[in-house]
Amino acid sequence: MEFLRLMLLVAVSVSNISADSHGNGNNEAEVVYQWNIVEYEWPNDTYKEEQITSGNYIPQNSAVHGIKLYKGRVYVTVPRLKPGVPSSLNVIIDAPESFNRSEHLLRPFPSWEMQELGNCEAIQRVQSMEIDPQTGYMWIVDTGYIPNMKDVEVQPVDSCPAKMIIYDIDNNVEVRRYIFPKSTVGYGLFYLNDIVLSYSEGKARYAFISETLGYKLVVYDYKKNTSYYYAHANMVADEKYENITINNLTLTGIITGINGIAISPDFKYLYYSSVAGTGLHQIETAVLTSAEGSSSEFAANVRTVGQKVSPGDGMAYGTTNKLYYSALGPNAVYAWDIETDLKSSFGNLNQIQLKTQDVVDSDLTMEWVDTLAIDNGYLWFTTSRLNKFFSEDGIVHHEPNFFIWRIYTGDQNYMKKGKDPVQSANNTVVSIMTVFTSLLLAFLLM
Ligand SMILES: *[C@@H]1O[C@H](CO)[C@@H](O)[C@H](O)[C@H]1NC(C)=O
Ligand SMILES: *[C@@H]1O[C@H](CO)[C@@H](O)[C@H](O)[C@H]1NC(C)=O
Ligand SMILES: *[C@@H]1O[C@H](CO)[C@@H](O)[C@H](O)[C@H]1NC(C)=O
Ligand SMILES: *[C@@H]1O[C@H](CO)[C@@H](O)[C@H](O)[C@H]1NC(C)=O
Ligand SMILES: *[C@@H]1O[C@H](CO)[C@@H](O)[C@H](O)[C@H]1NC(C)=O
Ligand SMILES: *[C@@H]1O[C@H](CO)[C@@H](O)[C@H](O)[C@H]1NC(C)=O
Repeated sequence: MEFLRLMLLVAVSVSNISADSHGNGNNEAEVVYQWNIVEYEWPNDTYKEEQITSGNYIPQNSAVHGIKLYKGRVYVTVPRLKPGVPSSLNVIIDAPESFNRSEHLLRPFPSWEMQELGNCEAIQRVQSMEIDPQTGYMWIVDTGYIPNMKDVEVQPVDSCPAKMIIYDIDNNVEVRRYIFPKSTVGYGLFYLNDIVLSYSEGKARYAFISETLGYKLVVYDYKKNTSYYYAHANMVADEKYENITINNLTLTGIITGINGIAISPDFKYLYYSSVAGTGLHQIETAVLTSAEGSSSEFAANVRTVGQKVSPGDGMAYGTTNKLYYSALGPNAVYAWDIETDLKSSFGNLNQIQLKTQDVVDSDLTMEWVDTLAIDNGYLWFTTSRLNKFFSEDGIVHHEPNFFIWRIYTGDQNYMKKGKDPVQSANNTVVSIMTVFTSLLLAFLLM
C-alpha cells in the first residue's frame, strides 16, 4: 500500500461549485510553466526507456509541489508520494531545440547521483526547501524514504532517516548535513513538509519546519547544530475538514495537520495552519528559539488569529505586509491584509485578528494550490492537482495537470533584508508610534 493512500482516500462525488471568475481585478496570474506529464532531463533516451520498462520511472506519478527561486532559476520538488519518481529535487530548464523549445524539463538538482532512491547519503523525499538569498544556500528538508507505511510503529529496514542538507548553490558544494535524531522526528507517521528560515546576528540560523503527519513544529538551530520540536492540539488535522472538494472531486480522510508556515520579514512571528483545518495560528519566534521544545511554554504563547476562508496548503509572507495562502476548494490564492487589520488592533501584532482576506487570484485550473514563493516583486505558486493525482484514476496524459503561476504583487522575499528580530522590533516600535500619531496610516515594516 502506497504511502498517501493512508492520508487521502479518494471518492468522487457531485457537488455544486460556483464558477470562480479569474481574478478580482486586472492583475491576473500568468502560467509560466505547465506540464501534462512532468518531463525530466535524462542522460539519453535509451536510459529513459530502460527506466520506464523497469518501473523505476512511472511518468504519471510525478507531481510538482515545492517551489523556490534563486537568481532567476526556478527550483521545484517532486516528493516521492508514489512509486516511480526518478528525482525529488530539480531545477527547471528549457528543453533543447531538438526536443521542443516551448516545453520545459526538470533537471535533477544537484545531480542524478544525489537522487538515488534507497541510498541514504542521497536525497530521498523532498517536499520543501528554502533558499537564503543572502548566501545562496539551499536548505533541503528530506523526510527520508519509507516505502511501506502500513505498519507505522515499525521502522522498515530499507528506510533512510530524516535529514537536512544545506547546499551552496553558487559554489556547488554541500556546507552542512544534519541527521534528525529520532527524538525529534522519526517514529510512527511523520512527514517534514514546509520550511522557513529565521535570522540571528545577520545570518540564517533557525529553520522552522512543519511536520504534517506527526503534528509537530520542528526547530533546527544551525549554530548549535541541534533540533527539537513543539507539539500542540492546533497542529493536528481537524476531523471537520477531513473531506475537501475541488472541482467535484472529493478527497476524504485527510489527516494532514500543520503544513503551510510563514514568517514575518522581521523574523518575529511565525504563522501556521493545518491542511485539514482553517485556523491560522501565531507564535513569537523568540518563544520557539528560547523554550527549547517545551510544549507547555509553546501552549502559553500560541494564539489563533482567526479562520481562513477555507482549508489550504502553502503560505508565504510578503514585504507589503500580506500573508498569502492557498485556498483549497475555492481554487484560489488569498491574501490576509495585515496592514489593514493592524489598524483595528492599535498596531499590536499580539492582538491582531484575521479579518481582511481578499482573493489574489482564482481559476478553475488552480487545482490544489500547493506551495507559494516570493521573488523580486512576484508571488509564485504551484498547483499540484492532488485531488486528481490521488483519485482512483489518477491524472491523464492528454490534459495539463501541473502548473507554475506567477502574479505581480510588489512583494520581496522575507529574507531580502536579512534583518535580525532585534533591529526590526525597533522598527515596529517606531511604526506603532506613527499609527498613534497619524491615526491614518500604519506604516509598519513587519
Ligand atoms: C545513457 O545513460 C546511462 C546512464 O547515465 C549510461 O550508463 C549509458 O552509457 C548512456 N548510453 C549512451 C548510449 O550514451
Ligand atoms: C511543443 O510543445 C507545445 C506545448 O506542449 C505544443 O503546443 C507544440 O505543438 C509543440 N511543438 C512541436 C513542434 O511539437
Ligand atoms: C552536525 O550534526 C551532524 C549529526 O547529524 C554531524 O554529522 C555533523 O558533523 C554536525 N556538523 C557540525 C558542523 O557540527
Ligand atoms: C467525509 O466523507 C466520508 C465518506 O463519504 C463520510 O463518511 C464522512 O462523514 C465525511 N466527513 C465529514 C466531516 O463530513
Ligand atoms: C461539477 O458538477 C456539476 C454538476 O454535475 C457540473 O455542472 C460542473 O460543470 C462540474 N464542475 C466541474 C469543474 O467539473
Ligand atoms: C533603534 O533605532 C534607533 C534609531 O533608528 C537606532 O539608533 C538604534 O541603534 C536602534 N536600536 C536597535 C537595538 O536596533
